[in-house]
Formats: sequence, structure tokens, C-alpha cells
Amino acid sequence: MEENRIFDPNIVFMKKYSFAGSILSADLLNLERDVTAAIEAGIDIIHFDVMDFHFVPNLTFGPAFLKALRKKFPDTIFDVHLMVDDLTEAMVYEFIQAGASWISFHPEAVLHVDRMLSFIKSHNVKAGVVLNPATAPQFLRYLWDKLDFILVMTVNPGFGGQKMIDACLQKVSDIKAMAIEAKNNVIIEVDGGVDPSNVARCIQAGANCFVVGNAFFGQKDKALALANLNKAIEDL
Ligand code: DX5
Ligand code: ZN
Repeated sequence: MEENRIFDPNIVFMKKYSFAGSILSADLLNLERDVTAAIEAGIDIIHFDVMDFHFVPNLTFGPAFLKALRKKFPDTIFDVHLMVDDLTEAMVYEFIQAGASWISFHPEAVLHVDRMLSFIKSHNVKAGVVLNPATAPQFLRYLWDKLDFILVMTVNPGFGGQKMIDACLQKVSDIKAMAIEAKNNVIIEVDGGVDPSNVARCIQAGANCFVVGNAFFGQKDKALALANLNKAIEDL
């Protein structure tokens, strides 16, 4: 994997809404089969959750795992969500080299948020920050020119299959209002408990990109799962 490979993000950035399937809910022993099915079903992005047992009480995938996926799926957008404490540029670089297309991190996990965003962008990778349910959004006000996307957690990070915390949608609305005021077209992605019953409310709050774990990779028929999500928003 060449470090400077430029992924064409335009398909997603120009789409009105996009879906990011989280492999946390895939059948890990049949991951190649599941990701192939996800792409064939029309998923826009593959969401890759990195957990370190410290920032969150769970442990998942590392750069070697991403590299193997990238090799099998050279044209897929891999959205790497780092739930890693004491995050350094060296760690992030491992994921850049392994083929990440988007990288987001939690501001609580790094000393210099602005510097880390610049570092990611300098490698032609889309950069974002992630807000936990209790993280206030005001700091975004000083980062607009560095943010390609914002990931708003609608559950406490660590596990798939949790129920959405409704209060987090108010924060999505607040962020959308801030973005409009700043005349910034940033992608607002929501992560946690998104399903056909609430995806319309996520859009009404201002989100335009949706991580779907249980509601997509957790479902046997991925085309049907995506159709159900799209059906829930077709009238918006
Ligand atoms: C949770 C992860 C999510 C998770 C979402 O910490 O960040 O990406 O996979 O899964 P669902 O959609 O099942 O809540
Ligand atoms: Zn995630």
C-alpha cells in the first residue's frame, strides 16, 4: 500500500446521505465474504473500529488487519475510528500506511487535536474528530478548516448493538447549526444504534452519514437491510 494513494472521496462527499457498515458486527470468520456482500449490496463505506482495552473496555483490530482488508478491497473507502488512548502520530501513521481512507480520533485521547488533524490531512487522508456522548462540541469552532468530517457517538463507544442515546441527537443539531454558521459543509456522521426506526431523526437533526453495525452487518440479507434503511428516509 502506497502511503500517498488518493482515494476519490467525491462519491460520498457529493451524495446526500451515505452509510458506513461497521465490521464489528460482521461474521469475523467470514469477513471477506461479508465485506464482499456489503459492497455488492451497495454500502458506501466500511467502518473500522479500533479499540485498545484502555480508551474503551474492548479490544479489536490493528493495522495488519486493515492492511489485509485493503489488499482484498483496493477501491473501498475504509473509515478508521480510533478508540485508542494516548494516541501518537506514529500509531496513526500505521493506519495510514495500512490503507485508511478516513481517520477519526477522540480529542480526549491526544494532546494536540489540531496538530493531529493536520498530520492526517498531510497524508491525503480525510480527517475527523469523534465526540463521545458527554463531550461538548464547542471546540469544533476552532477547527473548521481542518475537519473533513465529524463523528458523533450516539452510544458510549466500545460495543456494537447498543441502543441509541436520544440526547446525542440534540448535539447533532447543535453541530449542524455551528457548521451552517461557519458556512462549512462538513460531513456529520453518527455512530451507535442507528437503525430504520431512528435514521430519519438523525437526518432531521443534521447528520448525513450513518454508521450501521447491527442494523447492517448484523443482518443476513445485507441488500434488504440497506433497503430498509433507505426506505426509512426516502420521503425526506
Ligand atoms: C461502537 C462503535 C460502533 C459500532 C456501531 O463503539 O464505534 O462503530 O460498531 O454498531 P451499532 O450500529 O450496532 O451500534
Ligand atoms: Zn465506530
